[in-house]
Amino acid sequence: METDISCKRYIILEKTQISFCSTRCTTGRRVLGIETSCDDTGAAVVDEYGNILGNALQSQTQETVAVGGVIPFHARDLHKAHIEDVVEQALKEANVTVKDLDAVAVTVKPGISMCLNVGLSYAKKLVQEHRVPMIPIHHMEAHALTARMIEQIDFPFLVLLVSGGHCLLAVAKDIDQFLLLGTALDSSPGEAFDKVARRMKLKNLPECYNMSGGAMVEHIAKQGDIEKFPPLEILSGNRSCNFSFSGMKTHYMRLIENKEKEQEIVASNVISNAGDVCASFQYSVVRHLAKPLHRAFLFSEMRELLPEDGKTLVVSGGVACNQYIQQGLKKVCEKYDCRLVCPPPHLCTDNGIMIAWNGIEKLKAGRGFAEDPQSQRFIPKVPFGEDLTLDVANCTIKVRNANLL
Ligand code: KG4
Ligand code: ZN
Repeated sequence: METDISCKRYIILEKTQISFCSTRCTTGRRVLGIETSCDDTGAAVVDEYGNILGNALQSQTQETVAVGGVIPFHARDLHKAHIEDVVEQALKEANVTVKDLDAVAVTVKPGISMCLNVGLSYAKKLVQEHRVPMIPIHHMEAHALTARMIEQIDFPFLVLLVSGGHCLLAVAKDIDQFLLLGTALDSSPGEAFDKVARRMKLKNLPECYNMSGGAMVEHIAKQGDIEKFPPLEILSGNRSCNFSFSGMKTHYMRLIENKEKEQEIVASNVISNAGDVCASFQYSVVRHLAKPLHRAFLFSEMRELLPEDGKTLVVSGGVACNQYIQQGLKKVCEKYDCRLVCPPPHLCTDNGIMIAWNGIEKLKAGRGFAEDPQSQRFIPKVPFGEDLTLDVANCTIKVRNANLL
């Protein structure tokens, strides 16, 4: 099965995306991953040792920032325009053809229907033409397991997924077994970051050029004073591991509006204390993430869901790129003697690599192949794992607000 060939072996480096070295290395089974669930067209070839052999990504972040959200039919058209090039680029970089692959993995759930359809239709065409197996992938499961590509992380572990479309806390028991402890009751943290960035018109600041809304807020918050505006407490009496960001969105929208009025801000100008508002908002977000996380540790202890020694929390999804949030969550982890693992930013946001890696994990376990790829369907809304959210709430575990400063 394994072939010893001279190849480009890609190494993931923090922040610097991917570099490669030319070495003789062993390439095992290889999977092409295709991602089109939202606004990123991604494709990558990954081998069973976690080497990224080829990777291509066409991001729609700029369009999304410009119009203030993902417009499904517009996103679909961009996926359609780019899918072929993106897949070809990933294959070319990996120096393989589809026939050389052991499977094509493709995101089929959850996501925007017409966007999922572009990737799935393309994958169907590839597997039919070249007679290779197809592995349908759950986008959130792929986010949850990406960290295993870069570090040894044994099951079970705790995982917090924070992105533009989701917010959930779960125990990963196996590659296809998850226990859902908490989830977003309304909007996601990424959406809140994007709304705050847009309402403040941060994209008009030259230093925010080419950034996602969340990255803009993180950047501008560095210039701010966290104590200028008190953080907002959400779901304070609630004893669940659920999250709610819509109240936070409204609160900060109002604050920005008031500051704009006070400062007589017109047109595209930005309030003078944008840094203070961003710093306060970011602190509110991390405090709101921290409380359910505390509770999840305590619930896991009660139910013996995590190992006593060697606990790991994986934080992934676009919002996990945020260093300030990572620092805050690290403080919670230290209290529970838990290691925190956040994949590097290019693996936290949507990409083809995580889909290919999830395909590899399933291939290695010999599970998850589509029996009849041509009749495979996409599923826009789908639960994540076994739902323990009520069980958590019924335990009424009390936690205090942590001081994360
Ligand atoms: O995981 P992702 O790429 O796509 C979804 O599946 O949603 O996440 C995108 C989200 C966007 O809302 C973006 O603003 C946010 O992740 N994001 C950040 C940061 N970088 C990206 N949020 C906070 N801080 C960041 N540095
Ligand atoms: Zn995602």
